[in-house]
Parts: sequence; C-alpha cells; structure tokens
Amino acid sequence: MIIKKNISLKPFNTFGMDVNAKEFASIDSLKDLIAVLNTNPSRLFILGGGSNILLTKDVDALVLHINLKGISVISTSEKKVKVQVSAGENWHEFVNWSLNKNYGGLENLSLIPGNVGTAPIQNIGAYGVELKDTFVSCEALSTQTNELKTFTKDECDFGYRNSIFKNALKGQYIITSVVFELSSENHSIKTNYGAIESELERTGIKTPTIQEVSKAVIAIRNSKLPDPKILGNSGSFFKNPVVSYSKFEILQAQFPLIPHYKVSKQNVKIPAGWLIETTGFKGKTFGNYGVHDKQALVLVNYGGASGETILKLSIQIQKAVKLIFDIDLESEVNIL
Ligand code: EPU
Repeated sequence: MIIKKNISLKPFNTFGMDVNAKEFASIDSLKDLIAVLNTNPSRLFILGGGSNILLTKDVDALVLHINLKGISVISTSEKKVKVQVSAGENWHEFVNWSLNKNYGGLENLSLIPGNVGTAPIQNIGAYGVELKDTFVSCEALSTQTNELKTFTKDECDFGYRNSIFKNALKGQYIITSVVFELSSENHSIKTNYGAIESELERTGIKTPTIQEVSKAVIAIRNSKLPDPKILGNSGSFFKNPVVSYSKFEILQAQFPLIPHYKVSKQNVKIPAGWLIETTGFKGKTFGNYGVHDKQALVLVNYGGASGETILKLSIQIQKAVKLIFDIDLESEVNIL
C-alpha cells in the first residue's frame, strides 16, 4: 500500500469536485487497512464510491479509498441465500451479479451509484425498497481499537436515509463487508411504486421477473436522474421532509395539488422535488452548475463548478422552501 500526497479527488466523487487530499491510500485488503490504522493517522477520511458527498474544500486528512473486493455465497437454505459482499464492490455491479444468479431482493435498487460498504450508512433506498429489507449484518473495523465488530440489523438502527453510522457512531467504524439475505425462488416482486407499474405497462409486461423489474427501474432512473459519469451530481441532494398532518392540512389548503405519502397516523412525507419545483428552481442554471431539469432534487455540476457554489445554491433553495412552505429541507448528501 502506497500513501500518496496531494492527490486530486476529482475521479473519486460523483459531483466531480476537484479538491485535493493531503494524503491518499487505496485499501485493497483488511491487512492494509489495519496496518494503516496502526500508524495512528491524526485525521482520517473514509471514501467509498464518493456518490453521496459534496466536497467544498481540500481534505486535510489521510483519505482511505476502500477498495476491498469479493462476493461469496455463505449459506443457502430453502428459498434463501446469504451473500457476503466486500465494501469496495460497486453497488450496481453487485445488483447485476445477484440478478444473473436469479437472486431476488435488490432489483428495485438497480443503478444506484456508490459502493456496497457505504450503502448501509445512509440505508440507500428507491422505488419502495430500502437496503435494510435484505440486510442481515455488516462487519466494521473500529478506527479507535482496530478491532472488527459485527453489527446486526437492529444494532444499525436503520431509518429513512439514516443509520447509527450517520449518528452515534459517525466516523468511528469503517464498514468492510455486508451480508444480505436474498430469495433464490418465489421472489417477492414489488411494483406498487407508481412509476414501475406504468413502465411495465408501457412495455407490455404483466407478470414481471426480477430482471424485468430491474430493467423498468433502470429506464425510470435514466429518464429522470443524470448519469454521474456524464454530469456531476450526487443524486437527491435533500431528504423528503416529513411533516405533521396538521401542518400538511394548512399547506394543502393553500396548495391543493401538493403530493404526499402517509408515513404514520401523525405524519406525511412531501416530495422535496415538488417543493423545489414550486419555488421555481427546477432546471435553473447558474453558469456551470444548477438544478436538474428533470428532477428538482438533484443539483448538478456542468463542469468546473466548486463545491462552495453548489453549497450556496442549496442554501438558497432551503431559504426559498422555508419562505414559501415553512419547511426545513435537510441535505441528504454529506457536506465537507
Ligand atoms: N416531484 C416533482 N418535481 C420534481 C421531482 C419530483 O413534482 O422535480 C414530485 C412528483 O410528484 C413525483 C414525486 O415528487 O411524483 C416523487 O418523485 P420521484 O419518484 O422522482 O422520487 P423522489 O421522492 O423525488 C426518492 C429518492 C430517490 C429515489 C426515488 C425513487 C429521496 C431523497 N430520494 O426521490 O433517491 O430514487 O425516490 O424511489 O428519498 C437518492 O437518494 O439519491 C435518490 C435518487
């Protein structure tokens, strides 16, 4: 393992921010990871797929790019299979691996950028499915004691785009592998998320396979979300806010068409994309950055924009949403 100095992180973050890491090491084995932690670096920064981060300045730390690879079936039982996946595997490549083996459970999560090891941190989700639905456990290395610990699903305390690794244990563990339980037959097909059904209808599919659900999800994502390889972005920049029913009723009286999803007896979720679109920001460009024209939740770097300007734009959007709807939008991406 080589520790390099002053390395540009541009190829390592999907927003394409050209900031430098003070030090940088690509980690290919657990042995290397433990060895580097044993040198007691004063400041560490863990990078997975770099798909959920906005870098606004140089990173004054040792950046560890987790590149651990490997996928293996660790147990099979009737109708189920447990698979252990190393943290540095690309998420979508792993989803494709599972579909090729005809293992079900991940098809709705097709084409999400990022790596397997960072997926549990924000409990990635799309089209009615979240990572936690197939998650069994993960192994993680403590940055304080250098010991490996297994976290069960309960211990991860998953929530909407949330987990213990974003809260109480933030920065304290490096996830090295994840175990998933997938179906090997009698797959449970989840198409009740509106856009999937209409996409399947459009293509004339009545009883879809998991591979066909994946295809539909990919078509929907491609129609709305920019490919980070072509246009710098980090997916949804904000979380969809959850508000109380009483607050929602006040908003609905003023905006009768406001979309919403019931999350509990007391609360409703409102699509942040709609709130942002209603403020007039959708499709707005400001030189080399802006708000995506097909999905207002996505901020984009057209090339050469700085993280700071995108952060400023996100604050402007938050202010506009607060002014019109009295709702606080919380960012979904990590900002550094
Ligand atoms: N909408 C608008 N205008 C927009 C965008 C959305 O009015 O510009 C409204 C529409 O009413 C639409 C509704 O919002 O029906 C929902 O839009 P969409 O299905 O695109 O989903 P979303 O709530 O905007 C969430 C996730 C996405 C995920 C999709 C599909 C969050 C923060 N985002 O977006 O996740 O792909 O659902 O499940 O929960 C990500 O996390 O990076 C991400 C892309």
